[in-house]
Amino acid sequence: MKLVVLGGAGSQALYGVRDLLLHGKVFTEVVICSRNIEKNRKIVESLNSPIVKAAQVDVSDKESLRRVISDCDVVANCTGPYHELAYGIIETVIEAGKHYVDFCDDIEAFHEIFRSDLPKKAEEKGLSMIMGLGASPGILSVFARSANERFFDSLEEAVFYFAVDSREPGGPAVLGHMLECIHNAPYIKDGVMHNEPSFREEWDFDFHAPYGKRKVTRIGHPEVFTFPRYATETKNVSVRFCLEPVASYEGFRDVSLRGLTSVHPFMINGNPVTPRDFTMAAMLAQKAMEPAMTEAELKEFLRQPTACAAIELHGQKDGKCVSFVGRINGNMAPLTAIPLFIGAEMLAQGKIRKKGILVVEEAIEEADAFMRETAERIRGNGFSYTIREDFTVTTEY
Ligand SMILES: NC(=O)c1ccc[n+]([C@@H]2O[C@H](COP(=O)([O-])OP(=O)(O)OC[C@H]3O[C@@H](n4cnc5c(N)ncnc54)[C@H](OP(=O)(O)O)[C@@H]3O)[C@@H](O)[C@H]2O)c1
Repeated sequence: MKLVVLGGAGSQALYGVRDLLLHGKVFTEVVICSRNIEKNRKIVESLNSPIVKAAQVDVSDKESLRRVISDCDVVANCTGPYHELAYGIIETVIEAGKHYVDFCDDIEAFHEIFRSDLPKKAEEKGLSMIMGLGASPGILSVFARSANERFFDSLEEAVFYFAVDSREPGGPAVLGHMLECIHNAPYIKDGVMHNEPSFREEWDFDFHAPYGKRKVTRIGHPEVFTFPRYATETKNVSVRFCLEPVASYEGFRDVSLRGLTSVHPFMINGNPVTPRDFTMAAMLAQKAMEPAMTEAELKEFLRQPTACAAIELHGQKDGKCVSFVGRINGNMAPLTAIPLFIGAEMLAQGKIRKKGILVVEEAIEEADAFMRETAERIRGNGFSYTIREDFTVTTEY
C-alpha cells in the first residue's frame, strides 16, 4: 500500500511519519512531498527507512499533483493554509479516485467544500475523504463523540477548549491561520449562528496542569461546523482558546482589539497594505529574531506536556441534567499528526465505512477505540499524554 503525504516535511506531519515508521503496519511506501525537494531529501535521509521517499510537488499545479498521487492508495494532506489549498487538492484527489485525509482546521475551507458539489462527487466515486483529523478538530472531536455516546441521551451544549504553547513547532501556515481565526470567530447560540472577532468576551477555564486556570476567548474553529453535522440537536456550540505564555495571548488580544487582523487595504508609500499583512510580517520578523530551539532543546521541551485541550458537554441522561468535562494534555504536533496517520491506515484497510467527504465525528464510528489507539501510539513515541474525565449529575429537590 502506498501513502502520499502532501506537506510531509511540515512541522506537524513529520511527527506522524515518524510514528508510522515505528507503529505502522499498513503502508509499504510513504512519499513525502512538497515544493522544497532538498528539504524533503534531507529528511528522508535522516529517517533512514527503505519505505520513505521524497518527491517534489506544488499542490497548486494540478498536473504535478495528479502525477504524484497517480499510483497511491491514500493521500494525506498536511499542507496549509487550508482555505487556500484544500479545495483544489480535494478536487484533484477525487478526479484521481483516491481516499483522502487531512487535518484541516480552517472553518472557511469546510464551508467552501461542503457547499460545493465535491461531497456528492466523492460519494459517487465510492471514496472516503476525512476532513479535520488532527488535534482540534480531530482527536478532540472524537473525544466528544465518545463521551456523548457513553454519557448522554441528548446534548444541549458543546464547548471545545484548547491551549497551546506558542513555542511549539508551527510554520508560517499556522500564524496566518491564527490571525484569520481570531478575526472571524463564529459560534452557535440557541440554535442561531453568530460571528464576532475573538477577545470581545472572555471566560475563566481550568485546564488543570500544566496551565491551570486561564482566561479563554472564542476562536473561529471548525468544530462549530463539524460537531452539529453529527450531534444535530445541539443548540450551543463554541470553541475557546488561550496561549502560553500569557503575554502571547495578550499580544493577540492587542492585535485583535486594535483592528490589526483586518484585510481591508490602506496605502503606504503608494502600496496597498492590509493590517493583516503588516501584522503577519511583523510577527514573522519578531519570530525570526528569537533564537530557534536546537533539535536537542526541542526534544527536551516536548518531553513535558505543552498543549492542553478539553471538551465540556451539557445535556440529559435518564431525565436528569448531566455535564461532562474531558481534559487532554500532551504536545500539539504528535496530537495533530498521529490521529491523521491512524486515519490514513484505516482508509487503506477499508475501515472507514461511510463514503463522501466526511467530518471526523461522522467518519470515526468506533470513537472510544480510536481514542485508545491514539493514546497508545503517542505514548509509544515517548510523548506525554493524559486524559481525565469528570462527569456530574445535577439533581435539585
Ligand atoms: N487540526 C489540527 O489540530 C491542526 C493543528 C496544527 C496545525 N494544523 C494545520 O496544519 C497545517 C500545516 O501546519 P504546519 O505547522 O505543519 O505548517 P508548515 O510547517 O508550514 O507545513 C506546511 C507544509 O506544507 C507544504 N506546502 C505548503 N504549500 C505547498 C504547496 N503549494 N505545494 C506543496 N507543498 C506545500 C510545506 O512545504 P514546502 O514549503 O516545501 O512546499 C510544508 O511541508 C496548517 O494549515 C495548520 O493550520 C492543524
